[in-house]
Amino acid sequence: MQIDIIAVHPELIKSPFEYSIIKRAVDKNLVEVHFHDLRKYAVNKYGKIDDYQFGGGAGMVLMIEPVDKCISELQSQRSYDEIIYMTPDAPTLDQSMANQLSSAENIIILTGHYKGVDQRVRDKFITREISIGDYVLSGGELAAAVLCDAVIRLIPGVLGDETSALTDSFQDNLLAPPVYTRPSDYQGMKVPDILLSGNFKKIDDWRYEQAVKRTSEIRPDLLKKEDN
Ligand code: ADE
Repeated sequence: MQIDIIAVHPELIKSPFEYSIIKRAVDKNLVEVHFHDLRKYAVNKYGKIDDYQFGGGAGMVLMIEPVDKCISELQSQRSYDEIIYMTPDAPTLDQSMANQLSSAENIIILTGHYKGVDQRVRDKFITREISIGDYVLSGGELAAAVLCDAVIRLIPGVLGDETSALTDSFQDNLLAPPVYTRPSDYQGMKVPDILLSGNFKKIDDWRYEQAVKRTSEIRPDLLKKEDN
């Protein structure tokens, strides 16, 4: 997979790709990530990429021209499965979106700033808009990093058996059950006997019950989703 990230502050998102599972995916060539500084496509020599909004109102808006130049340059080199815009006024990222995107070949992620991007960018180029939650970040860079992490770890070959995504929270609309490791007794706080029993059928059943219990307590909305 190739991911091209367009940002006003690309430096903000580089470090998540330099650690842990995501770095391993990059090192194994399972994903290639390129960062594009929107200011390189500025409309003047002073690096102008934004302007006041028509009709008045606080906050600057990213102009269409720099975005058009950057996306058009990328599109002249390859075709993209999705051109994604990170913005709070969009459907919220969930595991099924991450699953879908993990099979794409080429993705562009445009991150907004200030008041957002001229609507004509969204109309002309964007194939999918994603929010990472009902709150507003100062820019879309961190949101893009979240999306990339969620997607990259699902690319086949990125996770080994020991970290399989199949048992993650949300894969079946359930939160993950509790997990424990050594010691089995820490200052009187004991690991549930069932996990030490060696009876894997019973352990699976227990984990499922715990997942349902946790989900109904913390995120009952997910159980309703399962009915759909
Ligand atoms: N940009 C600013 N806030 C955001 C959010 N919640 N999700 C995605 N992009 C954003």
